[in-house]
Amino acid sequence: MLSDTLIIKSTISAWEQASAFAAVHKLSIVDIDKKTAHDFTLVFDFTRVYLLDCRQKKPVEICVDFNSGAAEHRRKYGGGAGQSIAKACGIKGGRKLHILDATAGLGGDSFVMASLGCTLTLLERSPIAFSLLNNALERASESENVELLDITSRMTLHNVSALDALHNIGVYSDDAFDVIYLDPMFPEKNKKALAKKEMQIFQQIVGADNDADNLLEPALEAATYRVVVKRSKTAPYLNGVEPTLELKGKSSRFDIYTKKKLP
Ligand SMILES: C[S@@+](CC[C@H](N)C(=O)[O-])C[C@H]1O[C@@H](n2cnc3c(N)ncnc32)[C@H](O)[C@@H]1O
Repeated sequence: MLSDTLIIKSTISAWEQASAFAAVHKLSIVDIDKKTAHDFTLVFDFTRVYLLDCRQKKPVEICVDFNSGAAEHRRKYGGGAGQSIAKACGIKGGRKLHILDATAGLGGDSFVMASLGCTLTLLERSPIAFSLLNNALERASESENVELLDITSRMTLHNVSALDALHNIGVYSDDAFDVIYLDPMFPEKNKKALAKKEMQIFQQIVGADNDADNLLEPALEAATYRVVVKRSKTAPYLNGVEPTLELKGKSSRFDIYTKKKLP
């Protein structure tokens, strides 16, 4: 049970927001300075929401920050990840795609695609991941960085399961989605291929996406041009369905299911 491992801590200033979260998810809430023995802590600070993995002597913090060095670098230079995601989703030139990121997580991939000019609708079912990402988007919306404001203004997040949303997709956008992007968790057995520490901690708290296979069919129905699935290099095809095309990277690959040629 989540309440056995996770506790909410809050400052007075964020107490209302934190206690609303704690009440919905039946979690305990204590003052930010109180010592507790839980493995994980979700902290509502003055302006930030972050997760602490308290299992180590020095707790590891997970906070989404689109203004941080790494996100800034991804935005400015795209890098390998930016280039391959663009290729997989068909983002190029003046093509301004509307993309549904149905498994938003901490929003890294969506942020890259929004940086490349796309409009993103993000779905995330985990209340913890949603809180972290929603808070990052709120902070970005108050930033003085005009470019960051522009990028994040194209990102709209919903706390919902894609398995429900995909069957009623008109509720989430008036326009159809050009591309649907899926990046469900895949429990990695191969040690070498393990995701970076932040993602490993995140995986422990969010859990494995054992129902991910069910996403492919409704995504294929709802997308206009293509569905793109990010997989770890060794993972089987989603729902065992062979893609039209595969783009292989060092540790991951993109499986592309095309429906129609992009305009
Ligand atoms: C590997 S993470 C995604 C990482 C993301 N691409 C990024 O760049 O941060 C997978 C996320 O998908 C979410 N997820 C899995 N299945 C989902 C579903 N049916 N509906 C909404 N979110 C889902 C999980 O809660 C998790 O946060």
